[in-house]
Amino acid sequence: MAEMSEVRAFLGCSTPPEWIEAALSNLPTLLIDHAHCEKKAASTALNLLFRYVDRRNLLNKLSQLAREELLHFEQVLELMEKHGVTYDHLSPARYAMGLRKHIRQTEPNKLVDTLIIGAFIEARSCERFEALVPHLLKLEATQDIGKYYQFLLKSESRHFEDYLDLAREYSSEPIDDRVNAFREIERALIESADEEFRFHSGIPAQPLL
Ligand SMILES: [Fe+2]
Ligand SMILES: [Fe+2]
Repeated sequence: MAEMSEVRAFLGCSTPPEWIEAALSNLPTLLIDHAHCEKKAASTALNLLFRYVDRRNLLNKLSQLAREELLHFEQVLELMEKHGVTYDHLSPARYAMGLRKHIRQTEPNKLVDTLIIGAFIEARSCERFEALVPHLLKLEATQDIGKYYQFLLKSESRHFEDYLDLAREYSSEPIDDRVNAFREIERALIESADEEFRFHSGIPAQPLL
């Protein structure tokens, strides 16, 4: 399992305090979007299982990952129910699209870029859970969410490592340049103003009510 310090070192910036503030005052939206993210994480992994049937390590690691993400999905639904939050549709954050539009279209580059993006999404999720935990643990009403997020750190940091290992394995050249390119793109998405508040959104463009 990757250490939290490795996860933080991999990312180009830490979560801005403005986002933390917005998250704490928008917990229902955070939970609903978190549930969608777990589902999407499972679906991305499943898509890769269909597309790359000849990559044995990918099949193994991402099949396990998809199962874990679906389990997280069920756990977030349960947490929402406990907190009286109704699950609903939500427009996705600009984040994943903002990363995916830079994927190269020839193989194996397409696979390698997709895996690198997977590593960034897992690393950012991990970093955000960690940033939220101390705040959530402080209040009795949100202690259970804090404990759950602390628990998620372990699996998400392992997912980060799995994606990165797979990217290295299937690339025909060192992946450092692509990692550096995506680090900059990811950092810009996290540090620039964002109209919508989501789990992976940037800095809230206007103070949220
Ligand atoms: Fe997850
Ligand atoms: Fe994950």
